[in-house]
Order: sequence, then structure tokens, then C-alpha cells
Amino acid sequence: MNFLLETLELVFLSIYYILETCLRFFIRARRKNVTGEVVLITGAGSGIGRLIALEFAGLGVSLVLWDINQEGNKETARLAREKGVATVHSYLCDCSDKAEVYRVADQVKRDIGDVSILINNAGIVTGKKFMDAPDSLIEKTIEVNTMSHFWTCKAFLPAMMANNHGHLICIASSAGLIGVNGLADYCASKFAAVGFAESVALELLATGKDGVKTTIVCPYFVNTGMFDGCGPNVLPILDPDYVANKIVDAILTNQAYLLLPRSLYFLMALKSILPDKLTVQLGMYFGAFQFMDAFQGRAKKAQ
Ligand SMILES: NC(=O)c1ccc[n+]([C@@H]2O[C@H](COP(=O)([O-])OP(=O)(O)OC[C@H]3O[C@@H](n4cnc5c(N)ncnc54)[C@H](O)[C@@H]3O)[C@@H](O)[C@H]2O)c1
Repeated sequence: MNFLLETLELVFLSIYYILETCLRFFIRARRKNVTGEVVLITGAGSGIGRLIALEFAGLGVSLVLWDINQEGNKETARLAREKGVATVHSYLCDCSDKAEVYRVADQVKRDIGDVSILINNAGIVTGKKFMDAPDSLIEKTIEVNTMSHFWTCKAFLPAMMANNHGHLICIASSAGLIGVNGLADYCASKFAAVGFAESVALELLATGKDGVKTTIVCPYFVNTGMFDGCGPNVLPILDPDYVANKIVDAILTNQAYLLLPRSLYFLMALKSILPDKLTVQLGMYFGAFQFMDAFQGRAKKAQ
């Protein structure tokens, strides 16, 4: 193709994609049929992971649930059966442990077959200022929130690529787009998860594997208990059922990015264009600097 044709094509596609995005505000995109797909969710034993499993339960998929919390995982499986899922298997798997991921992945392939929808959801937070956080907890945060995505993708992407069919989902966070005072290790792990997922998505496109879809999810804080005690909130804290519903909708409509709430798209644009001193001032004004001061999280709450 010559330069003129390529430029005309770019102009045409630019207009088309902008119009398509505008129309999406008014017209719902068509949902794909996931009957028969094998959906693996890490961190399915509670919170958002459990709710995503329950959203999928009525859609004709086989569910594969991974967690270090065996009891929670079994409870998710029980609830999914109640909701009518045909097949559900739960596995004890520490997805921060590469060898364990590969071992349990092989077991899944023997038990059920290839995974076609992989949801990297497991996550932890230390909730300590960087200089107060023990090295072991910092390492664990990176291992669970980031490195586990590498190992699950290594295990399950080859089959998706071979079939040119599947979906890879990264549950990151708004803290993977904007730094937060008191969340250095968590933010670093989520920024890395976003960078990894975005790059793998491009690698899939560049190698012609456009049948393997990708979705990156960045929610603001969600009322699951993970960030209990934190505040004040710049944006309203999100309802877990709403978040799970939006995530599954984004998967079924092959949405590449999901930022929740919608005002996050606007905040991201502001972050890119406003003077840095002003963004700091705005953060101070809205109390974002104190957000982690009263952090309790799950552990302390349970004590
Ligand atoms: N809650 C929020 O405010 C919020 C906001 C944005 C993003 N997120 C992200 O959403 C995801 C789910 O969070 P949640 O709020 O449901 O938290 P949650 O604590 O309810 O669930 C996390 C699950 O991951 C499991 N898990 C932890 N370490 C694991 C490991 N090594 N291997 C396997 N499973 C492991 C836990 O047992 C738990 O069941 C996390 O990645 C989190 O970072 C949460």
C-alpha cells in the first residue's frame, strides 16, 4: 500500500473508532456467547473473585477456582452450583509460587482441558508505608499481584494462541494508574500488572492472534474488606456486586479497558495534562494523602 492510501485508511479508521466509542455510550455492545468455555479465576475464594464466579455460573461455562483459602474456595463452588453452573472444580493453589502454578495448571488440563478464559484476580495489600513494610511482605505483594500473572499466562496462553481463541483478564486497580501515598508496593505491583497485560495484548495482536481478547480492569476502592478503614474517599467506594457485574460485562463485550467508576477516565486525563504541583494540591485538598492512615484491611479486622 502506498503512503496516500495508508494515510486515508488511518483517517477513515480514526473517525470510525471515535464514532464507535461515542455510540457505545448509548447502545450496548453485543455480548459474546461463552457456553462451553473453561473459565479460571485466581483468588476465587472471596470478594471480587467469588462474585465474578457467580456472574459466570449461569452462562454455561465450566468454572475452575484457584485460591489459597480452601474453605472460601469451596464455598464459592457451592454457591456457583446453587446458581446452576454445570461444572466447577476448586483447587488449592498459591499462585505466587511458579512451580505450584505449573503443577496445578497441568492438573487442570488433565481434569478439564484447556482454559479459554483466564482471570488473574488474586491480590494482597500490605497497607504499610514503604519504609515500614518488611521486605518479605513487599516481595510477596509483587509475587501475588504481578508475577502470578506471568506464570498463569505461561501455563494457559499457549493453548489459547494455538486455537486463536480465548480471553485474558487482568484485575489491576486504579492504584495501577495513579500512585497513592502509603501504597508504594501495591501500586508498583499493579502498575506492573497493567504494563504486563498491555504488552501481552499487543504481542497477541502483532502475532495475528486477534482471536485471543484481553481486558484490563482498574477499579477504584471496592467494599470487599481489603481496604477496610481507609478514607476519606475522593470517589465513592464501589459496591462489589456492581464491580463483578461490570467486569463480566466487559469480558462478554471484549472491552480492552475497564476503569471504574467512569470518572476515573476523566481523572486519568487530568493527571496527564495538569501541572504536577496542581495535581498534588488537588490530592491534598481531597484528603488523598491521608487515605491509608486508618488502614485496617482484612487481617486486623479479623483479629
Ligand atoms: N478491594 C478493593 O478495593 C480493590 C480495588 C481495586 C482492585 N482490587 C483488586 O481486586 C482483586 C480482588 O480483590 P478483593 O477486594 O476481592 O480482595 P479479597 O481479599 O476479597 O480477595 C482476594 C483473594 O485472593 C486470594 N489470594 C491471596 N493470595 C493468594 C495467592 N498467593 N494465591 C491464590 N489466591 C490468593 C485470597 O485468599 C482471596 O480469596 C485483587 O487483585 C485486588 O488487588 C481490589
